[in-house]
Amino acid sequence: MSNLSSPSFAIAIMAAGKGTRMKSETTPKVLHTLAGRSMIGHVLHASMGLEPEKIHVIVGHCAEQVQNFVETNGSPELRSRLGWVEQKEQLGTGHAIMQLMPVLENFKGSLMIVNGDVPLLRSETLQLLRETHEELDYAATLLTTKVADPTGYGRIVRHHQQFVKIVEHKDANAKELQIQEINTGVYVFSWPVLQQYLPKLSNANAKGEYYLTDVIEMLVQDRMRIGTVTAENPLEVLGVNSRKELAEMECILHRRINDHWMEAGVTLRDPSSIYIDSQVDLAVDVEILPGTMLQGRTKIGSGSRIGPNCQIRNSAIGEDCEIRFSVIEQAQIKAGVQIGPYAHLRPATVVEKNAKVGNFVELKKAHLGENSKASHLSYLGDVEIGKNCNIGAGTITCNYDGAQKHKITMEEGVFTGSNSTLVAPLNFGKDAYVAAGSVITEDLPAGSLGLGRSRQVTKEGWSESRRPRK
Ligand code: UD1
Ligand code: CA
Repeated sequence: MSNLSSPSFAIAIMAAGKGTRMKSETTPKVLHTLAGRSMIGHVLHASMGLEPEKIHVIVGHCAEQVQNFVETNGSPELRSRLGWVEQKEQLGTGHAIMQLMPVLENFKGSLMIVNGDVPLLRSETLQLLRETHEELDYAATLLTTKVADPTGYGRIVRHHQQFVKIVEHKDANAKELQIQEINTGVYVFSWPVLQQYLPKLSNANAKGEYYLTDVIEMLVQDRMRIGTVTAENPLEVLGVNSRKELAEMECILHRRINDHWMEAGVTLRDPSSIYIDSQVDLAVDVEILPGTMLQGRTKIGSGSRIGPNCQIRNSAIGEDCEIRFSVIEQAQIKAGVQIGPYAHLRPATVVEKNAKVGNFVELKKAHLGENSKASHLSYLGDVEIGKNCNIGAGTITCNYDGAQKHKITMEEGVFTGSNSTLVAPLNFGKDAYVAAGSVITEDLPAGSLGLGRSRQVTKEGWSESRRPRK
């Protein structure tokens, strides 16, 4: 009986190393981020594109931190496929894969192995490697690439084009050091084959490590068939080892993301000054102006124009908005809203349709109703503002008494005069007015005017009376 269903397929990600050259005291290598996503997050994302039945992550250095981070940030689909394997001591890549032997004891499919520090890897490249492996029925298939400077990498040794072995940099002779084709650290193995060979690995080499790459040489010696796929673009498959490489890779990633959005119908003015995170979602005909960062899970609706110089994080912006020179975090902004210049929208803020938030206005846990305006110089915190309200220049909510936060509610049509100080808790009824310069400490019923300031005193002839007498 032949088995026509696709062979079973799993992925292992090696992420136990410390990443000494990152020189971090707090963050394990694979948790450093590029374009708003951790290195391992990028690798997991590319891996999910292949719909593996399981993704085994091998962790060691800061295992708990890596696991917590991924479990907290990963999607439910990802989490449902994740398995965690601990490698207590980092004795080499071969030793890392040996840790899978108990978990995969009865697994009969192919296992793709990926280093956890290769953030630019694309699903398409992994898919090509997998297809080559499965269609040509290799025992192992490796992803290689050619680089101008192969220092530090395992070299691909060939004889008459035919793959012979991988020799690690530290173990290479003078001639092998010249080879520019290198091992990327991405492979597909037939697991039943790899399973037999892992116990045969030795650590008698320059680094005293169990090299996974030695398995491949043994396979060749035993006349097993080895495939290679060469990645066209070396930058896609290279690992990050230092902060400098992290920055270079992030630059490439930002360019890739920008190209994607322009291709999808978004206008970017001077893309080199625009930084869009991996998980941002933009509709067609969005226009982004220079100096803008769109971060986290930000979404922007069609026809909106953002920038110059905005930082928007984890926020949803509706259609046809205009946002200039502003900072927005965890806010929800509906269609046709105008924001800025120099507005600051803090978490849990909602701005309804066609509302306006002008210069030097800060909103925190604020709900600004449809068509309402806070045009200048305000702090509005813990407020519920109805529709068609006008918040005068310099209106300040005193929402914090030093111990607790209190709320202010304004029904539709409320008008606050310039320089109003609103001491929470307060409720303003429909169409209530606050006179300019007032300190308001009591509720205002619908249609009322609240005056909270002393009456003006005018002294006729006062300046004349001060002049020195001759
Ligand atoms: C490895 C390859 C080399 C290849 C290079 C590509 C071997 C022996 N060499 O070298 O041919 O050119 O990757 O980047 O495999 N890791 C563990 N546990 C360990 C050791 C490593 O999980 O005990 C993980 C690391 O966290 C890292 C990956 O495996 O994600 C690669 O390890 P690293 O030490 O960087 O291998 P290289 O020496 O760079
Ligand atoms: Ca490496």
